[in-house]
Amino acid sequence: MADRTACIIGASRGLGLGLVKHLATRGYEVHATQRSHGVALTELAAEHSGSVHIHQLDVTVEADVASLADAIPDGSLDMLVMNPGVYGGSEQSLEDLNADNVADILMTNAVCPVQAAIALMAKVTDGGVIGMMSSKMGSIADSSGGVNLYRLSKVSQNMLSRSLFEKHAKERDISVISLHPGWVKTDMGGPNALIDVDTSVSGMITVLEADRQPEHRFLAYDGTEVPW
Ligand SMILES: NC(=O)c1ccc[n+]([C@@H]2O[C@H](COP(=O)([O-])OP(=O)(O)OC[C@H]3O[C@@H](n4cnc5c(N)ncnc54)[C@H](OP(=O)(O)O)[C@@H]3O)[C@@H](O)[C@H]2O)c1
Repeated sequence: MADRTACIIGASRGLGLGLVKHLATRGYEVHATQRSHGVALTELAAEHSGSVHIHQLDVTVEADVASLADAIPDGSLDMLVMNPGVYGGSEQSLEDLNADNVADILMTNAVCPVQAAIALMAKVTDGGVIGMMSSKMGSIADSSGGVNLYRLSKVSQNMLSRSLFEKHAKERDISVISLHPGWVKTDMGGPNALIDVDTSVSGMITVLEADRQPEHRFLAYDGTEVPW
């Protein structure tokens, strides 16, 4: 029986799928959620029968999050990773921003992942860790501008993750780590990205597993600090 349990939200493909694969190989029991059917995730669950459990979940649908919470015992998760994210298309100049596209990306990339983390907080063990999939593109200090919808969503997620830590996690010694996965070869990162999924996810798991006092930090997959 696995002595550690993780839950990866948004695991149909890309980095989420990679996290499930690496964690299952390391002996974790893994709850993996998919919005769309993930063929590779289904194969992975068959390969690790009994230790990888697939749940249906759109992070913007409250009822999906409630069903997942019902399926996971309280205090059982050592690690919870909120990975879902969208890029927001190619038209992201300041002039392109409007009420609809701003609301859509903020809800999917920032508000709903944080609210889902709150809804799942009771499932995380005291002293556990929550990874929030952010991006260096959410760093104000490191920004040269542009890609405004995506940047807006990740910088917002970073701020809401601070509230998640201060108001919900810290009191139970749970750390919240805002993660920069690197520029990774996935559907979102594209073929010209600098690193592969395996490099990114093995680094992020090492970052998440590190012993630490309860804290909220912005860390890259290689453990380096990302400036806010
Ligand atoms: N790749 C990079 O270089 C890079 C760099 C920095 C940060 N990131 C971040 O890393 C995360 C994963 O990115 P990726 O590169 O693996 O992207 P990806 O290949 O496009 O995968 C995105 C994942 O998010 C899921 N998702 C999107 N909207 C969702 C929703 N409403 N509810 C539930 N799941 C949803 C997708 O599910 P479906 O299959 O159903 O669409 C898919 O599993 C994102 O948050 C992204 O912003 C990526």
